[in-house]
Amino acid sequence: MISARASIHLNSKLRSRTLGSLIQGSIKRNFAAVEVEHGRGQWQTFGDLDSYKLGKYQIKTFNKISSKGLARFPTEEYDVRTGEDALNAHAILLRSHKMKESDIPHTVRAIARCGAGTNNVPVKRMTELGIPVFNTPGANANAVKELILCSMLLGSRRIVDGINHMKDLGSQGLARERVEKDKAMFGGRELKGKTLSIIGLGHIGSTTAHAASKLGMKLKGYDPAISVQSALKLPRSLDVADSLAAAVSGADYISLNIPYIKGDGGTHGIINANVIEHFKNGACLLNFARGELVDSEALKGFLDTSDGRYISDFPEDLLWDHKNTVILPHLGASTAEAEDAAASMAVETIRSFLETGTIKNSVNFPATSLPDRPEHSVRFTIVNKNVPGRLAEITETFASNGFNILQQINQSRGEVGYNVVDIEIKEKDDVVCFKDVQEKITMLDGVLSSRVIYGQPGTGYARNLEGEYFV
Ligand SMILES: NC(=O)c1ccc[n+]([C@@H]2O[C@H](COP(=O)([O-])OP(=O)(O)OC[C@H]3O[C@@H](n4cnc5c(N)ncnc54)[C@H](O)[C@@H]3O)[C@@H](O)[C@H]2O)c1
Repeated sequence: MISARASIHLNSKLRSRTLGSLIQGSIKRNFAAVEVEHGRGQWQTFGDLDSYKLGKYQIKTFNKISSKGLARFPTEEYDVRTGEDALNAHAILLRSHKMKESDIPHTVRAIARCGAGTNNVPVKRMTELGIPVFNTPGANANAVKELILCSMLLGSRRIVDGINHMKDLGSQGLARERVEKDKAMFGGRELKGKTLSIIGLGHIGSTTAHAASKLGMKLKGYDPAISVQSALKLPRSLDVADSLAAAVSGADYISLNIPYIKGDGGTHGIINANVIEHFKNGACLLNFARGELVDSEALKGFLDTSDGRYISDFPEDLLWDHKNTVILPHLGASTAEAEDAAASMAVETIRSFLETGTIKNSVNFPATSLPDRPEHSVRFTIVNKNVPGRLAEITETFASNGFNILQQINQSRGEVGYNVVDIEIKEKDDVVCFKDVQEKITMLDGVLSSRVIYGQPGTGYARNLEGEYFV
């Protein structure tokens, strides 16, 4: 039997030449050692093997990612690098970098965007290649909520006009003389007892509802596609409307917290003349979702003829200098805490995927989690095209190679299927070799990649690159 100590010695010898195939440590005394293949074939000429640290996951980052978030990668197991220096990366973390396929080495198993949108990642192509793309939903919700609260006050107390007036008076040396007389120009109203209607009751909508409730506001909301998890988070006092028109009717403040979706059935210009006609005279519209949700012409008509207000976080060619608007430069998520929270969530998501095969918060892969790997077992994950018969072929290949499956899960989403399989390792076997079975499974028609998640971080990954075995 080959001990863990012996295999580590072997690995360091191999490292000086090529990555070679390697033998990983035994699960426990009296249980089998596990052999997988890593560094054969294309790997030997791929990336930058001189600086590749065998035994660590290599992480490639784009943009400045919060150091608090990156600190969640333990340095004993993770080698975090930027851009060009990470030619053998196992996972990528980014913020706004516009990613091209050429940024993505063959060794990459996952991509995480620190933020909600993934427009800067070629998600469709990643799905074809079998690479999950993750995001960080809700990580910036608190930052946006706080700015929505601020904006309700901006909309009710003429604070911006007051500040500008004081600057003006100050520059003329008239501030002390005029302040008490002029303050009458900036009278306002209080939030307590007023009605806030929230359109979109997801992460931002629900946290805003709780905060507004604590300020003594009445709550309405509209979200025909609300998830069960989001519904459970809402304050009980929130009155759910059954249409957009009903939601905005009678509201003093209307907060838009829905995604912008182009095309038929989307949300482009959803706040249009037909909806605005239900606004009450002094309604204040808060837009911290996307500028394109609002029909600016129709809103201008309302603002010109009413005491309404518009506070928005987005560029606005028609309304930027209207006396009843306040336009901010997309500040919603711009806090250090939101960046830390997004990076931390992205790191935890990547770690959980690399270390256990779990998929959570992916925009292209099915949510998948299996209970912890049982003792004396090795975990396999397989990504395949979602075509009939793949699961049967995979389980049959394990069985015909003498492997017993202890537990497994198979999930699919759109064009992709994902399997997590825990294989039993019997007592006192000498070495359990996964080389052959991994090659057979990976090279099945329609399989894109496989991983043996066990032992040394980073090893045990194989891809079917258009019929060529990359391991
Ligand atoms: N200003 C900023 O910096 C900033 C920051 C983060 C997010 N945002 C915007 O805020 C939006 C909401 O963010 P979130 O984290 O709460 O998203 P979320 O996905 O958690 O919630 C969105 C909710 O909107 C609902 N919805 C979708 N279409 C709807 C419709 N037509 N009518 C009513 N409800 C609808 C969904 O069912 C979902 O519950 C994002 O899509 C993004 O555009 C802006």
